[in-house]
Amino acid sequence: MAKQYDVAVIGAGAAGMMCAAVAAQRGKRVVLLDHATRLAEKIRISGGGRCNFTNMGAGPANFVSQNPHFCRSALSRYTPQDFLALVKKHRIAWHEKHKGQLFCDDSSEQIIGMLRAECIAGDVSWRMPCKVGAIEKTGTGFLVQAEGGDIACTSVVVATGGLSIPKIGATDLGYRIARQFDLQVVEPRPGLVPLTFDGPSWEAFAPLAGIALEVEVSTGGAGGKGSKGKGGKGKAGGHFREDLLFTHRGLSGPAILQISSYWEPGTPIVLNLLPELDVAEELIGAKTTVKKQLGNVLAQWLPARLAEGLLTANGFAPDARLADMPDAKLRKVGDAINRWAVTPTGSEGYKKAEVTLGGVDTRELSQQTMMANKVPGLYFIGETVDVTGWLGGYNFQWAWASGYVAGQSV
Ligand code: FDA
Repeated sequence: MAKQYDVAVIGAGAAGMMCAAVAAQRGKRVVLLDHATRLAEKIRISGGGRCNFTNMGAGPANFVSQNPHFCRSALSRYTPQDFLALVKKHRIAWHEKHKGQLFCDDSSEQIIGMLRAECIAGDVSWRMPCKVGAIEKTGTGFLVQAEGGDIACTSVVVATGGLSIPKIGATDLGYRIARQFDLQVVEPRPGLVPLTFDGPSWEAFAPLAGIALEVEVSTGGAGGKGSKGKGGKGKAGGHFREDLLFTHRGLSGPAILQISSYWEPGTPIVLNLLPELDVAEELIGAKTTVKKQLGNVLAQWLPARLAEGLLTANGFAPDARLADMPDAKLRKVGDAINRWAVTPTGSEGYKKAEVTLGGVDTRELSQQTMMANKVPGLYFIGETVDVTGWLGGYNFQWAWASGYVAGQSV
């Protein structure tokens, strides 16, 4: 005999726990299923162990999706202030680090504890670790095959997240359930991920591993900040000013993680390594007064190793005397620093990606409730959906907001 519930939530991560708590506190009988042995591992490892749990500026412009407007409704119904109020209610100490990003003072475990307490307050039933099998539509709802016995329920909420970090239990179950019910899935791919460069063209830069500096980065011809929806793709281009980090295999740091969500394979990213300086103008202006070598002049503004590496890779001699160089050549040096265009050959993939781009196509879902338009009672929330936030607390805000609206609707 199947055990009867109103709601089965599959995936006890950020979105799943929020949804379960909200639904259960409305009086729904909720069961929360997860195959992991440790609860909410992604929250635990987030924000370097301190969980960047929201961003006070979160709005639709901070998300990548084929439909950039889809997230608007949920984000406005459950705001960063709402989540902060919950954090305060649980007396969790927090601080703002940078650009509206809020972190726990102590540990991300406190956010997990808070969500677990909210679920317990609503008397949510837990099945964990629990293998989830087939899901069938019945006359009155759904039958979910699960370790520990079948579950009959009116609503199923799929909150199994994306494919990032498979070693802590990420699976494609959410996409498989969507396809089973004939819902479109936007092809998933790694997001917020370091970019890699294979081949001889990168050899000059590999020794620069460890160098970090603030840069401007753009891709896809974007002029504005972040995403600009265009042509139905919702990710025309990105533009960020953040820190860049050279690694042995390529480029990383917040600037690269951000731009990776906008980058299309085969296209370049453009880096301005000295956003405050028009390098060509400075060099031309200094020609007559500075009797120094080019590499030494650039080393005033850039780490010396980086200046030398860039000059060598672009065919300029670091020991060339500035005074001997024609203006046209100095303009090319300026371009190599203010408009350095490089084409990554790939990314570090799901094993390093903080999020998964793509997912259940938002055209299949109601933006008010997150329910599938053609399958009454079936909901998708969190990272499983084709809504992906920037780095900086936006992804958790989407998990809370989409979990909340589904929890209110089931
Ligand atoms: P989430 O991944 O949290 O939960 C999915 C749950 O489903 C998991 O518990 C999993 O075990 C379960 N599951 C999966 N497959 C299953 C199956 N087949 N059967 C049963 N259960 C299954 N974001 C942010 O805003 N601020 C931050 O500081 C960070 N930091 C960060 C660091 C790192 C290293 C990563 C990888 C990611 C972040 N993120 C982040 C992103 C953030 O963690 C992510 O977007 C949310 O956790 C997504 O929440 P979900 O609930 O959708 O999925």
